[in-house]
Amino acid sequence: MFNYPRSRLRRNRQFPWQRRLVRESHSGVDDLIWTIVISDDGRPRYPVPGMPDIYRLSVSELIGEARRAVDLGIPAIALFPHIKPEFKDAQASEAFNPEGLVPEAVRAVKSAVPGLGVIVDVALDPYTDHGHDGLMDGGKILNDPTVEALAQGALMLAGAGADIVAPSDMMDGRVGTIREVLDANGYENVSILSYAAKYASAFYDPYRDAIGTATVLEGDKRTYQMDPANSDEALREVELDLREGADMIMVKPGMPYLDIVRRIKDEFAVPTFAFQVSGEYAMLMAASQNGWLDEKRIVMESLLSFKRAGCDGVLTYFAPRVAEWLGEPS
Ligand code: PBG
Repeated sequence: MFNYPRSRLRRNRQFPWQRRLVRESHSGVDDLIWTIVISDDGRPRYPVPGMPDIYRLSVSELIGEARRAVDLGIPAIALFPHIKPEFKDAQASEAFNPEGLVPEAVRAVKSAVPGLGVIVDVALDPYTDHGHDGLMDGGKILNDPTVEALAQGALMLAGAGADIVAPSDMMDGRVGTIREVLDANGYENVSILSYAAKYASAFYDPYRDAIGTATVLEGDKRTYQMDPANSDEALREVELDLREGADMIMVKPGMPYLDIVRRIKDEFAVPTFAFQVSGEYAMLMAASQNGWLDEKRIVMESLLSFKRAGCDGVLTYFAPRVAEWLGEPS
């Protein structure tokens, strides 16, 4: 492929200005979706185990962080709820409560900072007493009844003012049903960010502690989330979700699955996001706090790798720190 006998690739690397000129990928504040855990337990801020510097926030603390997001130039936040055990049941009833934690949080953020994008997860796992993303019957996850339930949950969240609903359950057909129900109720401008290629990953464990599903979850999610061994299947998942009306798609986890991002971007050329999940955050923070890695350099490099792989944006718990670092002179 290369036949340039006179080339010396180091010539382009000599000076900072020269490296800037030939740089292919850039990270910027526009790439950031700040993932935030909220809680209904009455405490303003409660530390999440395994995730240093991450707290479950009350709605009033969330408002403060939402204002900070705007000050930092972060375009959007994504909310994840920790729900009290007494509100969980087999039908995930609380997922449809228009006075629940998430709709309350969405209304509060949209009225305090209307210009900030608000993304909500559409999933049943924070609300089920077994911790699964679907309704169950005798140990099996029921696909179609779950899809109907998710669409009702999405409708309620759209009613609260969410800009983007993000189904993270991995049931078949949910994007299409959510789109139909939203459209039929006058929410044709609410977008769908589909967790299209979501893998059954061990990287989610700190998150499950954060939202309080770790202790209740029975078994694992391998009958609905994707097998980490598969890559072709991710393309089929994305194609189906796009046909069903997804506006944007997501790969999850992030760094270990950047090969999937690249394939999707090459194949479909649609807005593509990846989620740098809780376990990735935990790894980078643990090593940084031990002094084994340099936090700023390692996090910025990780974000650049998402961009290089083809991501249009990254959902990350590091978002506010990254926005601050980006504002510092380099
Ligand atoms: C579940 C959901 C998960 C995450 C977001 N939504 C985990 C799971 O599937 O159990 C993971 C987020 C993270 O690890 O940071 N609907």
